Amino acid sequence: MGAVAAGAAVWPLIDQMNPSADVLALATLEVDVSGVEPGTQLTVKWRGKPVFVRRRTEAEIEAARNTPLSDLKDPIARNANAPADAPATDENRALDESGEWLAMMGVCTHLGCVPLGDGAGDFGGWFCPCHGSHYDTAGRIRKGPAPTNLPVPELAFDGSTIKLINEYKG
Ligand code: FES
Repeated sequence: MGAVAAGAAVWPLIDQMNPSADVLALATLEVDVSGVEPGTQLTVKWRGKPVFVRRRTEAEIEAARNTPLSDLKDPIARNANAPADAPATDENRALDESGEWLAMMGVCTHLGCVPLGDGAGDFGGWFCPCHGSHYDTAGRIRKGPAPTNLPVPELAFDGSTIKLINEYKG
């Protein structure tokens, strides 16, 4: 529902303005997440790529927060809203203090496939079937060939709307 609403709000404006390709590439996107229930997620298309938005359950948050940093393959948060060297704690990747919300690029950091979600993989998060990369409930790479965590783009979140502003640059 949220994805449809977001698309409907954005495309007519773009049509009307008929912007050039480079303007389109820089477009921000507002995503209404007020209808997303805990334990579900939506995928929106932004700048030609999927973005995963998940409202996590208590169990998912707990699993992510109880994971020692020493168990992580990639120790960096990869969050455009945090310092470049911020460690990959769950707190440094979630959108809000409670950890209920997570938003990240839906592009496997190995070779760019779109991982499967909704608890897929050995760590209950996302799984990329292309070559077997397993991401945990915070989108952090835990097993397989992907080198880094799914990146969190620069965004603003007010509790019901996520505004996607810029991609993670690394
Ligand atoms: S592209 Fe995802 S594991 Fe290779």
